[in-house]
Amino acid sequence: MSLFRLDASIRREGSVSRAIADIVEATWRDGAEDASVTRRSVGLDPIPATAWAASVVADRGDLASMTGEQKDAVALASTLVDELLDADALLFAVPLYNFGVSQHFKAWVDLVITDPRMAASAGQPLQGRRAVLVVVRGGAYGAGTPREGWDHASGWMRRILTDVWGLDLRVVETEFTLVGVNPALDQFKELAAPMRADAELRAANHGRHLAGTLAP
Ligand SMILES: Cc1cc2nc3c(=O)[nH]c(=O)nc-3n(C[C@H](O)[C@H](O)[C@H](O)COP(=O)(O)O)c2cc1C
Repeated sequence: MSLFRLDASIRREGSVSRAIADIVEATWRDGAEDASVTRRSVGLDPIPATAWAASVVADRGDLASMTGEQKDAVALASTLVDELLDADALLFAVPLYNFGVSQHFKAWVDLVITDPRMAASAGQPLQGRRAVLVVVRGGAYGAGTPREGWDHASGWMRRILTDVWGLDLRVVETEFTLVGVNPALDQFKELAAPMRADAELRAANHGRHLAGTLAP
């Protein structure tokens, strides 16, 4: 059994998205000795920002016409898609940054989509593949909150993973991760702890989904 795991947090120490994704991964693994994980930590080891444009304009039918930069970008796109296609299950852990999608996650998605195997005309080679998306937010964006509608990342990520790639996706979200860090949020301490506990329970459940052992 194999897992592809992407982490978009720009930190390792104290990362909540990694901690939640660790629970998903551990439940997915559940002691299996043949479990292998391919990791992309795009927040710490980013995809070059120039790779997407270089890959988009590269003429894959005419190798001799490609610049060195284009060849590198095309090769990287191909490697990224191999990593996805070779995995039985996919795990993405992505924080909310500046009310939008992590630039590192988007650079990765954009480059993946330049590979002909992931083009719209190629169908959906990942259709039905089990996947989990972990989303963490420092603040809170629920219905009726002052910032309802300010999370411009989650909708886009679901659109790509579910509608564009056709994954069998489960999402675990947790909010108020900045409670205890930002004193302005101290009043929300009672809300943050149960949210985190609920996310951890969901993470374990979604790990079983990834492994295909969750009862319908
Ligand atoms: C530069 C930066 C921008 C952030 N922007 C937002 C934001 O717009 N909304 C929000 O709710 N949290 C925001 N956060 C908080 C992160 O979402 C939160 O700390 C999250 O837990 C980070 O993920 P990690 O714990 O896995 O590192 C931001 C954090 C950083 C460092």
